Amino acid sequence: MKFHVLTLFPEMVMLGLAPSIIGRAAQRDRISINAVNIRDYSLDRHKKVDDYPYGGGAGMLMQAQPVYDAHKAVTKGRRIRTIYVTPQGMPFSQKIAQELAQEEELIFLCGHYEGIDERVLEEVVTDYLSIGDYVLTGGELPAMVIMDAVARLIPGVLGNDMSAEEESFYNDLLEYPQYSRPEVWHGKRVPQVLLSGNHRKVSQWRLEQSILRTEERRPDLAEIYRRKQRLTAQLAKNKRNNIHMIESIARGCGEILYEELESGGGNLLVYDRLCKICMILAEDVDSGERLVGLIPDETVKIWVVQPFMSEVLWKMRFQKLHAYIQVLYPQKVALPVRHKDIHLLSKEDLEAINLNAFAEMLSAEISNADCQKDLPDSADGYDWEHKRNAGLVQWEEILADAANGLVYGAFQEGIPVGMIVTDRNGRLGLPIVAERFAAWEIAKSLIAGSANHILEKGRIPYAHVDTRNQKAVELFEELGFYKATAVVMEYGNLG
Ligand code: ADE
Repeated sequence: MKFHVLTLFPEMVMLGLAPSIIGRAAQRDRISINAVNIRDYSLDRHKKVDDYPYGGGAGMLMQAQPVYDAHKAVTKGRRIRTIYVTPQGMPFSQKIAQELAQEEELIFLCGHYEGIDERVLEEVVTDYLSIGDYVLTGGELPAMVIMDAVARLIPGVLGNDMSAEEESFYNDLLEYPQYSRPEVWHGKRVPQVLLSGNHRKVSQWRLEQSILRTEERRPDLAEIYRRKQRLTAQLAKNKRNNIHMIESIARGCGEILYEELESGGGNLLVYDRLCKICMILAEDVDSGERLVGLIPDETVKIWVVQPFMSEVLWKMRFQKLHAYIQVLYPQKVALPVRHKDIHLLSKEDLEAINLNAFAEMLSAEISNADCQKDLPDSADGYDWEHKRNAGLVQWEEILADAANGLVYGAFQEGIPVGMIVTDRNGRLGLPIVAERFAAWEIAKSLIAGSANHILEKGRIPYAHVDTRNQKAVELFEELGFYKATAVVMEYGNLG
């Protein structure tokens, strides 16, 4: 991620960030910070950048020209999201931080004096963000606050990629209390459950503590949490078919854009802003059309489970992409992992694996028709050889998923022989396994390993399997997953 900061005080930004984790990440090239001095673009003899406001009033305004030229020098004609930090902006939040972390480059514009000439803002700014209802003397501190919150979500910036996953504001709840050594301090004991080694109990305790703390300190957030709980309880009456919505809401990814649920039916529109997926449940065709009219423009995919919704989308000229069978494991008991050498892969692990060699091996095995009988195809009926030849094996995507979600790898004598990715939406992917190494067992162990990780977080493992891929359905069923009765239809939004 490249951060550009347009400012009158570039050294404030650079020195402010240098000693922190963010500064170290910049040294390790995970991010770069480019502070641009707006004054360098002044055409005035004395490098003046401000003037009096028309119509009178206190103070000075930053002029349009130097800001515009500084911006142009950075973008060089490219479209880059440009954030003007101002008390008049939208309140900055963890959700916005997650959204911004998906960008490759960001520009921050920092105002001073009484603000900036409106005309240049109209031309360059894409987002107005505020860090709170108070007024600071300039935009540098707010820009640094936002950069810090965004940068720590970027893979490899925090030492431990998992720690950004569960913390304050994940799931609308505040973080639970934490303890470190010694076990007793000032006569106070570390809660016994944390010493038990039982991950599920620990997760449960942490959730309870998060709820208590949120109720005490942020009743407004607790109310949002309770509302979502009520909603997921309604959806859980048809858990198998609604699991994608339940999980999306429960994991804190799904925003509820419209809700009118009664027992037995109703209307619901859930939007996963990160994955840009809309999930719709409608009462009838008319309500369905109304809900489709509410989907955000940026939506890339739409998931529906009601056959009439499929017709609505088709009529409204959305393109059908996939039909999935949902499989879920609603039990609380951990699944057996028979293949011993299976573990969670960090981004560094993945970088250390020669992914191209791995792909070669997989495609060689998968393309061999004789080997296919035991081999679980991937969810979208991936033809690995074809995709590799066409340059479509998206290792970058797998790497990004690895950092955003979970990737488990299976190894045999140190050689990678299989992999499974859980995507950011919480869906288990399908295992990719090299046939020559007891594919079926390894595939099962890969599913079990990542499903157990999801179970430990108190969530329900689920997957979407292409309707044509009966082998994979069997694989999940052998492990104790249930099949939903409705098919999930995936539609693309071509705008
Ligand atoms: N500039 C001055 N005050 C600010 C605030 N509260 N948030 C964002 N930018 C600002």
